[in-house]
Amino acid sequence: MQPAARLALLVIAAIAVASCSSSSSAAAAAASSWSMKQEHIFLESFFASSPQGVAMLFANSSVPEQIVFSGKTILRRCSYVGKTMTFASILENPNALANVSALGYNHIGDIDIYNGVLYAPIEEDSYTRPAIVTYDPMTLEYTGLVQTTQKHMPWVAVSSLYKFLFSSEFDNVTSLYVYQVENLKMGLFTILDLHLPVGLEQGLMAVQGGVVSGTNLYLSSSAPGDPVYVVDYRTGIVQLEFNLPSTQETEGIAIANSDGYMYVLVQNNFDVVAYQYSQSS
Ligand SMILES: *[C@@H]1O[C@H](CO)[C@@H](O)[C@H](O)[C@H]1NC(C)=O
Ligand SMILES: *[C@@H]1O[C@H](CO)[C@@H](O)[C@H](O)[C@H]1NC(C)=O
Ligand SMILES: *[C@@H]1O[C@H](CO)[C@@H](O)[C@H](O)[C@H]1NC(C)=O
Repeated sequence: MQPAARLALLVIAAIAVASCSSSSSAAAAAASSWSMKQEHIFLESFFASSPQGVAMLFANSSVPEQIVFSGKTILRRCSYVGKTMTFASILENPNALANVSALGYNHIGDIDIYNGVLYAPIEEDSYTRPAIVTYDPMTLEYTGLVQTTQKHMPWVAVSSLYKFLFSSEFDNVTSLYVYQVENLKMGLFTILDLHLPVGLEQGLMAVQGGVVSGTNLYLSSSAPGDPVYVVDYRTGIVQLEFNLPSTQETEGIAIANSDGYMYVLVQNNFDVVAYQYSQSS
């Protein structure tokens, strides 16, 4: 058995074990149908010129959900009203890589937030040791760094069901990296092979963003057609979910906990757009 296949089995086994103890009823997403609701246009300065990612900060019953955006070197936390797509800036870390720039890191990708920790994938120009950095999502202050063996690390996405952090390379993506989020310090990870649709055997190209909803991992890509894929990460089965309107460059993706809206960020020539999608049942 190939090492990757063996590791994939380990992941499946871990998921099976976790399933037994999980009380979650995360809907086994039947054939989903996301449709675009509205869009919001940002000035590029909102992202310090380079939009990269987005994640939701679900607080608790006394604190409404917020939204955090990543630019190439910034983090920005905003209030969140899904119905009107209102994002009011609350706090910015304008130099979010200050603690790690001496190591060569100069690019933040698509972020995620889980259990009070903001996870950001970061890269250097040499693409030799991308890292996962952690931040306090409230203060946006850097708290730590874990270097990985990936080449590229465009995105991270956490499954709260299984406490896995997923990531991938950028091009020719035929597998996912699966990190145990609670053991990140030990760098524990495995690999999940993808079962790609006919015509995509070479792998997913230009993967820019990821977000988990239940047992689904949604991946946004800036490959031709600007596809958003859905991966059932228990099986590795990949399907095309929808195509974005034609854009210059698709970036990160997030799904709000409070209202279920999906957001996909895109960069155009002179502005940045967040497209909002909702899922009809
Ligand atoms: C709700 O979340 C905020 C922000 O994380 C925290 O300060 C507050 O203590 C939390 N409240 C409860 C009731 O958990
Ligand atoms: C990040 O840098 C600031 C400023 O130098 C420093 O005060 C802080 O302790 C650093 N954080 C960590 C986690 O190293
Ligand atoms: C992806 O696959 C194509 C075709 O096999 C190859 O030309 C290209 O170099 C690959 N890219 C990467 C980043 O591996």
